[in-house]
Amino acid sequence: MIARIIGTGSCLPESIVTNDDLAGIMDTSDEWIASRTGIRKRHLAKDETTAFMASEAARKALENAGIEADKVDMIIVGTITGDYITPSTACQVQGRLGAVNAVAFDINAACSGFMYAFHTAYAYLQTGIYKTVLVLGAETLSKIMDWTDRSTCVLFGDGAGAAVVQAFEEGGQQASEKEMMGERNGLLAFEQGSDGARGMVLNCRGRLNHNPLTTNPFAPSYVSMDGQEVYKFAVSTVPVSIRRVLGKAGVEVGDIKFFILHQANLRIIQSVAKRLKADVDKFPVSLDHCGNISAASVPVLLDEMNRKGMLNRGDKIVMSGFGGGLTWASAVIEW
Ligand code: UT7
Repeated sequence: MIARIIGTGSCLPESIVTNDDLAGIMDTSDEWIASRTGIRKRHLAKDETTAFMASEAARKALENAGIEADKVDMIIVGTITGDYITPSTACQVQGRLGAVNAVAFDINAACSGFMYAFHTAYAYLQTGIYKTVLVLGAETLSKIMDWTDRSTCVLFGDGAGAAVVQAFEEGGQQASEKEMMGERNGLLAFEQGSDGARGMVLNCRGRLNHNPLTTNPFAPSYVSMDGQEVYKFAVSTVPVSIRRVLGKAGVEVGDIKFFILHQANLRIIQSVAKRLKADVDKFPVSLDHCGNISAASVPVLLDEMNRKGMLNRGDKIVMSGFGGGLTWASAVIEW
């Protein structure tokens, strides 16, 4: 079985907020944000919801793949900022698209959310349970930021990205002319992990518990991050994860055309490139104009590259997500 990405899409909120705009409302500067992170601006939702952005990204991905919504068997959304606890964002996407034959659910793996969703989709495809899966990362992080904490709120943005993943039998009949274009080998290998013992270095509590029967009601909170601990986790874990997945796929660092990393900090990306002894030009960047969009960062960047024509058949690509949980996940795909 081959699991290929056959279409991508993304949606960013209309409103763009620059570092200078933020410097106008809090004690920060373009110089600090850009030099510490590489971020220059981000899209922040005004009226857009997570479900709206996810649905738009999904619609574009289906269009790009040439697939009708009723052909989708499953929708998985990686998100920590769904508009509701229930219904899930995935169910909302299903309803908005009219994807009547799809089963839909969300995954909470923070910045690894899209990668976890992608690997979960693969498991269903590989067992033959489903054939076509919509995989998304979608976030409205601006609503869980502490806007009095300059050390976190300047880092994040909002948006959604989607990919249509489809199963093909090796050497078997292709489903459509568009799909026949592919002599692509799809997902070659993946690996992922979690470290719950260190999870509190990046946390955000749920809503207020006002149950009168409890003696220990807790208050909700916004995102709180020990940036340096998360930074150390990222630069030590991601290169190991990538080396491991390359080993599983039987390919070398030099065989990889692009490393599409979760977009948290340019310095993390540069450090991973250095540790892998890979050319930093192979690490495309979107955080300069998107900031950190958690689960959405990998699929939004993938879609940008796809639409710019940067991805050619046969290219080997690494995708890697890491963040809250703590979680991480990497895959090698052949486009
Ligand atoms: O997506 C999930 C994964 N998340 C990550 O991967 C984030 C990983 N961590 C990081 O990217 C970095 O740790 C940060 C960008 C969050 C912070 O960079 P840093 O170099 O670790 O800075 P710091 O936290 O050590 O802060 C340095 C200084 C402090 O001032 P003092 O104590 O040295 O006087 C902060 O108060 O920078 C100050 N500072 C700011 N100054 C201006 C913190 N935030 C700001 C700000 N503007 N927005």
